[in-house]
Formats: sequence, C-alpha cells, structure tokens
Amino acid sequence: MHCRLIGIPLQDGASQLGCEMGPSAFRVADLKGALEGLGHEVTDIGNVVISDLPDVTHPNAAVRNLPQIAAWTKLLTEVAYRESGQGMPIFMGGDHALSAGTVAGIARRASETGRPLFVLWLDAHTDFHTLDSTTSGNLHGLPAAYYTGRPGFDGYLPPLSHPVDPANVCMIGIRSVDPAERDALKENAVTVHDMRTIDEHGVAVLLRRFIERVEAANGLLHVSLDVDFLDPSVAPAVGTTVPGGATFREAHLVMEMLHDSGLVTSLDLVELNPFLDERGRTATLLVDLTASLMGRKVLDRPTRSY
Ligand code: ARG
Ligand code: MN
Ligand code: MN
Ligand code: MN
Repeated sequence: MHCRLIGIPLQDGASQLGCEMGPSAFRVADLKGALEGLGHEVTDIGNVVISDLPDVTHPNAAVRNLPQIAAWTKLLTEVAYRESGQGMPIFMGGDHALSAGTVAGIARRASETGRPLFVLWLDAHTDFHTLDSTTSGNLHGLPAAYYTGRPGFDGYLPPLSHPVDPANVCMIGIRSVDPAERDALKENAVTVHDMRTIDEHGVAVLLRRFIERVEAANGLLHVSLDVDFLDPSVAPAVGTTVPGGATFREAHLVMEMLHDSGLVTSLDLVELNPFLDERGRTATLLVDLTASLMGRKVLDRPTRSY
C-alpha cells in the first residue's frame, strides 16, 4: 500500500489551543517508520496551510472561527480528493473540524469509482451540530452534520458536492451527546453505538455487523479516529476528555478487525493535543493503533479469522 501522510495543523475548531502541534507529534512518534516497517511505501507530503480567509459571519453569535473553518474545509476537500488519487491518505490533525473537508473530498473521489462511501466515526462525541444548533460555538462539533448534508451550511461552508448517505455512517464509542444532536439523530439514519451498547454486546459484534454491510455494498471505508474515543487513562492528550471510553485492547481490536476487512481506504487521526500529553504516550498509542490498522499483528492468522 502507498500511504500519503498529510499534516493538518488546524486548531480553530477546538476551544483549547494545541492541536496545531498534532502533525509534529505524529512525526516525532515516527508514524512513517511504523508504516514502512510493515512494508508500506510512505510519502509525507508535509503540512498543508490555508491562506485567504473568506468574509463570512453567521447569525449564531456563539460560532467561533467560521472564516478559518470555511477556508480549511475548502482546502481539505481539494487535498483529500487529490491525495486519494495517489494512494491511501492518512490525515494527521488537527482538530476534528478537519473531517468536514477530508470526508467531503473522499466522497467526491468515491463517486468517481461508483462505489458508495461509508464512514466509521470513532469518537466520544457525535459531532452532529449545525451552525444554528451549536451552543459552544466550537466547530469541531459539526463535521458529521456537514458531510452528511444536513441543511444550514449553505453560504457559510463550501457547497457540498457529494454528501455521504447518513445510513452509511456508523459511530462507535459515543458517550457525550448534546440535546440538539440527540434530537437530530432521532430523525436520521446514522448508526450510533454508545458505550453502553459496547458494554452489552462487545465492540467486535457491532463492528462486524458494520463491516459486513460495507462489504455487501462493495463500499469504500473512511475511518475517523478522535483521540477521545479512547479512555483518558490511556490517551490523556485531548482537550475534550470524557471518562468511560474505549480501552487499549478494544481500540486495537477495532483496528485489527478493520485491517482484516481490507476495506479501509482513508484515515483521519484527530484531536491529538501534544501540549496535554504525558511524555508522548498518546501520540505513540495513536501510531501503534494506526500500525494495527495497517497490518501489525501478534500472530499470523487466516485473513478471515471470524
Ligand atoms: N458537543 C460538544 C460541542 O459541540 C463537544 C464536541 C467535541 N468534539 C470534538 N471533536 N472533540 O462543543
Ligand atoms: Mn470528534
Ligand atoms: Mn460526481
Ligand atoms: Mn470527540
């Protein structure tokens, strides 16, 4: 596999500063070396940056940094489209606002292949606010609403040419949902597995069900991994920690099963805030999880072990 590492020093979607340093931390933790060690060809294209900011404001006065997020979304839609034509893009964030653009660009690429795009959203949060419904004003709380084509973004964020079918989105690890998001999800076909569902059934059962759907539809699969999917005890380097997250082994199991599926064609690594890390342990864990996704395993086993 040819992997394309793309650094996205975006922090304007989060309330706490520091995600800008995320791409550097992934490089220091040697994401490139880990992937090369698995036999992949890896190109680090460096960091992408926005230049001109559009003159845009929204009536919801809580909304923060809209011109920046609009510029990032436009840039990242183009970058994701372009890079997904070169290999498997791995987007090193940066806060989760970046997924508005990465998923939009990947969806455009998918439409050309004629295969439907599926999104696996690994997160404590659903990030399903619109510009109207957000009360924090932090735009990393919106990307899933944007790329599924919920109304209310027109004239504020770039027009979305290829929305992802909400029925093709599966969220796992959820344990913090705002009232407006909860209401919107009721009317929506997005699959949401909260931590209680994981406790009751085990993450493997839920993920297998989704993988089988992607397989049956001959889909492409984009994975968006928010650091706060993980329990803060194993992944402290994130501004929005929520207790009760995925364990070290649950997270690795998800990645190992995704590898065996052979379906993943793009990946976001988001919300890593190196300023909050402890001697790089969260960055290192994210690199190890990516390695599991890309084929690192303890034992060789038949590709279909389940
Ligand atoms: N729902 C909360 C908000 O909108 C938290 C969002 C956290 N999102 C994230 N990508 N960490 O402010
Ligand atoms: Mn998120
Ligand atoms: Mn098209
Ligand atoms: Mn989150």
